[in-house]
Amino acid sequence: MMVLETNGLTKKYNNQLVVNNLNMHVRQGEIYALLGRNGAGKTTTLKMVMGLVKQTRGEITVFGEKLTRSNTGGYRRIGALIEAPAFYENLTAVENLNLIASLRGIHNKNAVNNTLELVGLENDTNKKSGKFSLGMKQRLGIALALMHDPEFIILDEPTNSLDPAGIQQMRSLILSLSKEAGTSILISSHILSEVEQLADTIGIIHQGCLIEEVPMNEIRLRNRHFIKMVVSSTALAVPILEKQLGITDFDVESDYILKIYEIERNMEDVNRYFHDAHIGVSEISMNKGNLEEYFMKITGG
Ligand SMILES: Nc1ncnc2c1ncn2[C@@H]1O[C@H](COP(=O)(O)OP(=O)(O)OP(=O)(O)O)[C@@H](O)[C@H]1O
Ligand SMILES: [Mg+2]
Repeated sequence: MMVLETNGLTKKYNNQLVVNNLNMHVRQGEIYALLGRNGAGKTTTLKMVMGLVKQTRGEITVFGEKLTRSNTGGYRRIGALIEAPAFYENLTAVENLNLIASLRGIHNKNAVNNTLELVGLENDTNKKSGKFSLGMKQRLGIALALMHDPEFIILDEPTNSLDPAGIQQMRSLILSLSKEAGTSILISSHILSEVEQLADTIGIIHQGCLIEEVPMNEIRLRNRHFIKMVVSSTALAVPILEKQLGITDFDVESDYILKIYEIERNMEDVNRYFHDAHIGVSEISMNKGNLEEYFMKITGG
């Protein structure tokens, strides 16, 4: 089941396409990372999904139902934090959340305290939110999004303005929400390394277009480290690799290029076998399939 599907979602500002014909698919129970550089259109997309900005064109379906002006019930099942949340600066964290809880009709007495603990604000409950640091405000915003126990949460760059320890905590929080509570999660980020250990699916948005939507596993496979060998004939080299060296995890790129994924293998060995079989080797190089580079490459950075 999909918790979110967009169909041709498009936004124009002053005749400029900011989000261009987006077809996104977030599956139930997964962590989906919308990845893109500054200005790519992430926030605009999430705002349209939450109905904070009206789309120029396209459809949004949540929990299998199309959102329309008269059908907005889906929003009750979503918790979202998009851009800086607004709080009453003179109220403490607890008071802010209590206020929101009563507005939203949340009667669970423990909801506020549980949520504050979840986001790591349990020791700052009585401080006025106006005195909060950026990181603490970010946590309070996430607490707001989580308080009604939503099935699906949408967080726009949730690690923004958090320190390294805060980023780590946010990551564990997202993982535990996903793994323990089964919450579906959509987060945006401009740093691949930040979501790479988290996401099940990555959607890459570039200049308003979703240019890739792929399982993280597939990206990992595509980016495995390998040893590249340029040889005089891969046709001759393959049987030697397989039969004499017992190497099976490799790809034949062309008549001359081999990619060997067993990078811990001693290449001197391979070289010697090839030499004995009169196979020329003109290049051996290690290729570190760096995910960050890959992301930069496809977004043109
Ligand atoms: N209200 C607006 N009016 C006009 N243009 C806007 C408006 N909001 C966003 N834009 C433009 O839309 C484009 C996408 O902005 P958006 O905030 O969605 O990007 P983003 O991917 O969230 O970037 P960042 O990583 O910096 O948060 C930008 O070029 C931005 O200038
Ligand atoms: Mg943004």
